[in-house]
Amino acid sequence: MGKVSSKSVRYPASPTSPSKHSKRSRQKSNASSTTSQESNSSFNRSNNHHQQQCPSPASSQESFFSPCRSTDFDIYEYIGDRKHCNNDLDDVNYIYPVDDDEIDRVQMQHFMYKHVWGGNFSSPVQDLLQKEDTKILDIGCGSGAWVLEMATEYQNPQFTGIDVAPLYPTEIKPENVTFQQANVLLGLPFEDNTFDFVYIRFMIFAFSVEDWERAIKEVVRVTKPGGWVEIMEKDLYWCNEGPFCKAARTAVAEALRESKNMEIILSPIIPNILSSISNLDSNINHDERSVPFGEWGGKLGTIYRDLYTWGAKNLKTFMKGIGFNEDEWDETVDICMKQLNDRKGFDKIHRFWAMKKLEP
Ligand SMILES: C[S@@+](CC[C@H](N)C(=O)[O-])C[C@H]1O[C@@H](n2cnc3c(N)ncnc32)[C@H](O)[C@@H]1O
Repeated sequence: MGKVSSKSVRYPASPTSPSKHSKRSRQKSNASSTTSQESNSSFNRSNNHHQQQCPSPASSQESFFSPCRSTDFDIYEYIGDRKHCNNDLDDVNYIYPVDDDEIDRVQMQHFMYKHVWGGNFSSPVQDLLQKEDTKILDIGCGSGAWVLEMATEYQNPQFTGIDVAPLYPTEIKPENVTFQQANVLLGLPFEDNTFDFVYIRFMIFAFSVEDWERAIKEVVRVTKPGGWVEIMEKDLYWCNEGPFCKAARTAVAEALRESKNMEIILSPIIPNILSSISNLDSNINHDERSVPFGEWGGKLGTIYRDLYTWGAKNLKTFMKGIGFNEDEWDETVDICMKQLNDRKGFDKIHRFWAMKKLEP
């Protein structure tokens, strides 16, 4: 790669506008449509991002929650050399890879964010965590890091982690932990009013705005009256960013909005959704932390910059599918991180928590 210059990376003025709801047609239209503006730029579209496709399940009648489900064949697809959730399945919109590299990243990220907050949750559940009949659920648990740590620290409650992709450990885990493969957007396999505390973290690249509404409603359904719902998210928004970073973020925001109806600034959206749910208490709690990018922020800043770079680059295969040039994507990430370091950039992470009303 030549000398990195912020001028060497250009962005599409307007990404292709594939149908938000037709999944296969979205990929086909991406592959075939190129505007004249794009063809004149350094921005190259890929025509074959599905280089390798897992075979279809033997029976399309197979239930999503079927214990006989052959997950590797129907949950995953390969985009280049990265394993992804198959976004052609109904209600699966997750754009990050789900492979060992990504599990390692999410695992390390868990410990960094715990350090930033000084703990694993903000809801007032300390008393509940001492009790044997307390039930706790983690939605989109990923590697299971949060569940495993919480269950080790609080040995009385029963912890359940669900994820559409079974990335969690199946054998070596504390006795008070159960993991289950489930898609929250298809409905959770639990009765109403089952859990005392439901936790959701980093689903920003898994949910459209409508998905957020459906997921939160479903989470509230399975929460007991008097129980707590907590959501931790970060915005893809950088404080002290310069024009290059802003242009890069804007291009990503537009591409995600067009292709997936995903929003990258969630901190105003999540409390609005929580407030709209009638059986949640109207007191929506919020707390936030700032996290620095780069050396100016000491050891934390350096670790955050490196983890953020890793995370952004892990979006490469998806970004290629919606029109970004792969090499330019890596270069763009590096330039953004360098500029954020130089400008003392930081971002904010948010926690929202609310109680389910005792009376409907
Ligand atoms: C960025 S990871 C976050 C993992 C974990 N919550 C954490 O903070 O460490 C997002 C996770 O959500 C899962 N996921 C995506 N869409 C989902 C859905 N509709 N239902 C359940 N899990 C989903 C993905 O498989 C992935 O493991």
